[in-house]
Amino acid sequence: MHLAALSLYAALTEIKAIARIRSRLHIVFYWTKSAEEKNKENLSEFIDKEEMARYVRRGWLFFGYIIINKGGNKMEGKVASETREVASMPRLGESAPSFEAVTTQGTVRLEDFKGSWLILFSHPADFTPVCTTEFIGFAEIHPELTKRGAELLGLSVDSVSSHIAWVRNVEEKMGVKIPFPVIADLDRKVATSYGMIHPGESKTETARCVFIIDPEGILRAMIYYPLTTGRNMQEILRLIDALQTTDKHKVATPANWKPGDAVIVPPPNTQEMAEQRLKEGYECKDWYFCKKKL
Ligand code: BEZ
Repeated sequence: MHLAALSLYAALTEIKAIARIRSRLHIVFYWTKSAEEKNKENLSEFIDKEEMARYVRRGWLFFGYIIINKGGNKMEGKVASETREVASMPRLGESAPSFEAVTTQGTVRLEDFKGSWLILFSHPADFTPVCTTEFIGFAEIHPELTKRGAELLGLSVDSVSSHIAWVRNVEEKMGVKIPFPVIADLDRKVATSYGMIHPGESKTETARCVFIIDPEGILRAMIYYPLTTGRNMQEILRLIDALQTTDKHKVATPANWKPGDAVIVPPPNTQEMAEQRLKEGYECKDWYFCKKKL
């Protein structure tokens, strides 16, 4: 084996060992003769193609030799190339990432919200105009959310003192009391575990994310908006209504659905059910597409 290849192999072995210890360390090893040859055929002999494909699916863009995501600075100089941080993203239908965090109303843990719906949302920064309009918007829908058994929890990468000062300012200058706690996520622990930082938008601020977590702690919906677009509070209410309607009646909700509209009856699983369906008095366009009023 060529000497350079050998030393790369040694480096890779070392990194793989670290990777086993530190689950968040992502490594891609890629061997190419030139930057032009950056295609799948140029995979290193030291990493199998399926492993490489997994990294590609996770959104890595790469060429060069060894690419390190987290903790990778140690390898700088030894290895070259382009790096791209991969946000860890929570997934729908799974337990929401657990947390314990300092907020404007004391320390909170995800577990404290068990039994309620939780709307965890992030904003880029305190004392910024779009965020201020959103905070006012969240405060305005707060009573409606309470009626639905849902609680709000804000977050940004600012200190608790900054949050307190801003919340006081919103009350003094805009006459709106902020009734929900706001996480001071200075170490970005919560932001990282929920994939709230999108470096293409901002390397330091959280994007405008909304996570809807059900009373069992399962992540049921996510919304991600860019820094420049304020969120639609009515859509957040609509989403809670849709999820609660789905749970209660075992139905789905069509595009632009709002409470009171007809809902979608789940599609039949057997031919017999399909025949039966057409006799049940639903509003059917065809056997697979039936609506009913609740
Ligand atoms: C705002 O809330 O006004 C804002 C924050 C970050 C980037 C752009 C706008």
